[in-house]
Amino acid sequence: MQEQAGIFSDVAGEGPGLESAPASAVARPALAIERDVNLKAYNSFGLPATALRLVRIRSDADVRRVVDHPELGRAPKFVLGGGSNIVLTRDVEAVVLKMEIPGLRLLETREDAWIIEAGAGVTWHEAVRWSVEQGIPGLENLALIPGTVGAAPVQNIGAYGVELKDRVEAVEVVDLVTGRKVRLPASVCAFGYRDSVFKRSGFGGLAGKSVITKVLLRCPRPWTPMLGYLDLERKMAETGITAPDARQIFDWVCDIRRAKLPDPAQIGNAGSFFKNPVVTPEQCRDIIGRDPGIVHYPMPDGTVKLAAGWLIDACGWKGKTVGGAAVYDKQALVLVNRGEARGAEVVTLARAIQESVYGRFGIRLEPEPVVV
Ligand code: EPU
Repeated sequence: MQEQAGIFSDVAGEGPGLESAPASAVARPALAIERDVNLKAYNSFGLPATALRLVRIRSDADVRRVVDHPELGRAPKFVLGGGSNIVLTRDVEAVVLKMEIPGLRLLETREDAWIIEAGAGVTWHEAVRWSVEQGIPGLENLALIPGTVGAAPVQNIGAYGVELKDRVEAVEVVDLVTGRKVRLPASVCAFGYRDSVFKRSGFGGLAGKSVITKVLLRCPRPWTPMLGYLDLERKMAETGITAPDARQIFDWVCDIRRAKLPDPAQIGNAGSFFKNPVVTPEQCRDIIGRDPGIVHYPMPDGTVKLAAGWLIDACGWKGKTVGGAAVYDKQALVLVNRGEARGAEVVTLARAIQESVYGRFGIRLEPEPVVV
């Protein structure tokens, strides 16, 4: 974090509301280190792997206690949110920090926005549902995305025309070396398509160096419904509702997702397995010449985004399996666990898909989840 000092503002002390009590007012229980923990229930793919050491983080203070701990302080860390964007292929030797920081409240009502403060451990969909129920519109297009609030900025989740970056005021993190808390305004989070400073390791990246403890969400006022996505336009045409409120859009998004995406509680998966590739207009013209039906979206910068699901589908992958891993039969972009899949099988299936798409279209698909 040092190289970026100066653009971050230090946050003094704990913010009110999220902590159950000031650390000084209650006796701190000893930091509980759980050993040899089965992670199957803690990753949405339901893949088997063991955490050699796991610590539950329920407050910023817990992170600092890990940092100060004689055994854990200097050990590598692995931050686990809802486990919805990882493929576990082996046991995890790094100390797993399981993020369980609670808290959800309207922090501020400004003229230009509502600011919601959410703890990293809150389930993302709960935060969306809560905001809609409070009459705060703005997050409805992001309903039912699996995972936690703390994981949402890492890959800049997005759906139906809205990305998290459009709704972030700031992200609070605790540095895993110094224990210092900093509030990062959205402008320094380097948000990109399913990417951010929190996902990147190496110079300037924060992966493994700090942990997200709180997210401040910004819902702009006045609210503008985002209805430009084909699936939502269809809903409007079907129902005749041309001016839906946020609750209606929330319900539509839930319906659309339930119809084509598997529920991780029933069928293990990590959402879209590959990013939608971005190509030059020349590459796109070349592919259209060969495959006129290809689904593509011109981007504002002149590039063209291709639907990876369409490419995979066109190569005949729907329903195909490798051991316990399979391509979901209603959405080829999603890989699923048929029951007892192992991480290695998911990776083998993903590589075979990449090769076949490359062979036919000359396009390299990039995985969205992090392979551990
Ligand atoms: N398609 C096919 N066959 C398939 C899958 C898709 O032909 O098997 C076609 C669809 O008919 C459609 C196009 O491909 O014309 C795009 O499909 P869809 O609308 O389902 O969206 P997507 O591009 O596959 C992206 C996000 C999703 C997000 C939806 C809605 C990525 C990698 N995925 O999927 O995000 O929910 O748009 O906005 O950007 C996630 O990241 O985990 C995720 C689920």
